[in-house]
Amino acid sequence: MFSKTLLLLLVVYFLSDVSHGQRDKKFFRDDYHYIEATDSFYKIHGSKQNNWHQAKRLCALEGASLFYAENEEEAKAVISFWNTTQPQVPSINVGLHDIETEGIFETIDGKLISEVYNNWLQGEPNNSGDEDCVDMFRNGDLNDWPCTYGSAFICKKSLQTVQWNSQCNMSNLDYTLATNISKCYKVHTTPLNWDEAYATCRAEQSSLAIVNDQEELDYLAKLSDAAPKRKIAANYQKGIFHLGFHNKYDEGWQTVKGSPMTNDRLWWGNEQPDLDDGKKCGSMFYTGLLSNVNCDTKSFFICEHELNSSDENEEEYY
Ligand SMILES: *[C@@H]1O[C@H](CO)[C@@H](O)[C@H](O)[C@H]1NC(C)=O
Ligand SMILES: *[C@@H]1O[C@H](CO)[C@@H](O)[C@H](O)[C@H]1NC(C)=O
Ligand SMILES: *[C@@H]1O[C@H](CO)[C@@H](O)[C@H](O)[C@H]1NC(C)=O
Ligand SMILES: *[C@@H]1O[C@H](CO)[C@@H](O)[C@H](O)[C@H]1NC(C)=O
Ligand SMILES: *[C@@H]1O[C@H](CO)[C@@H](O)[C@H](O)[C@H]1NC(C)=O
Repeated sequence: MFSKTLLLLLVVYFLSDVSHGQRDKKFFRDDYHYIEATDSFYKIHGSKQNNWHQAKRLCALEGASLFYAENEEEAKAVISFWNTTQPQVPSINVGLHDIETEGIFETIDGKLISEVYNNWLQGEPNNSGDEDCVDMFRNGDLNDWPCTYGSAFICKKSLQTVQWNSQCNMSNLDYTLATNISKCYKVHTTPLNWDEAYATCRAEQSSLAIVNDQEELDYLAKLSDAAPKRKIAANYQKGIFHLGFHNKYDEGWQTVKGSPMTNDRLWWGNEQPDLDDGKKCGSMFYTGLLSNVNCDTKSFFICEHELNSSDENEEEYY
């Protein structure tokens, strides 16, 4: 009894020590900027290609959430960062909406707008047409507008909520280290098509897994074999996992890092790749044999995170 309690205390002490150590570094991801005044990290997505729902989802994939200002101080600090780094962006979608009840605006985490920064532009919100989402201008004014409009947006992560995966040297706790291969992997069991899977791994600062040798292939097969079988039996391509190779441009099979898949790197399954021209994306059966699939096929997928990705990138230039 005593030793169990002691062990528990030691574990708690060790874990909190690790996370405090990381918090002292004030680091979340290298694409996020820390603002001292608000104790939080921010990333401006400057392109206008995402609507409100897509922006919310992208921030979540990055381990953060769609920004709204808690108070005037935060609005000022964030707009000042925005003004100095991306002055060409006129407005951003923010994490406020009245999707549930017309006229009752709330934050994406369920607070009423009266509890947070709510400096509406004069005459707004006016629900002109169907305006259930909110954008903010560079002078800090809020305006209601349609959720379908594409806009820039900002993702936010508070220092308080940063956790650290020290084995994988990243904040995402879902990745586990394969010691022998010195890479971290995550098996995604929400089926997506190949392009969506690719983008999801990128948002997690990873890439679709690339098979470099038999040992890695065996490891990926072991990971996929451990994925929930009940889900595998659901209504999509059975037992298939998207991986990081393709022949999308008819240049031959290549990895997502652009290197050709030479013959000895092709562990194709029986009669794969099959000759159907539409099947230009790379995947693996859960048995560990490679297969080509239609890129629209929704399936599980595996992301990999290299431990020292900056070093590896440098090597590629030589
Ligand atoms: C409502 O606000 C929008 C801006 O979102 C503006 O273009 C429109 O003229 C306003 N409509 C009315 C009826 O005030
Ligand atoms: C940011 O720029 C806008 C537009 O020029 C200006 O109205 C606003 O006062 C600036 N805000 C801060 C905090 O720098
Ligand atoms: C890792 O490598 C060692 C030595 O080569 C081997 O004995 C061990 O089985 C490997 N572990 C895994 C999980 O493949
Ligand atoms: C951990 O990652 C950071 C950047 O993301 C990098 O600067 C650092 O060198 C990495 N540390 C190790 C031990 O790989
Ligand atoms: C990772 O990078 C850091 C700093 O660049 C270096 O000190 C360390 O030895 C590298 N680790 C591995 C496993 O390559």
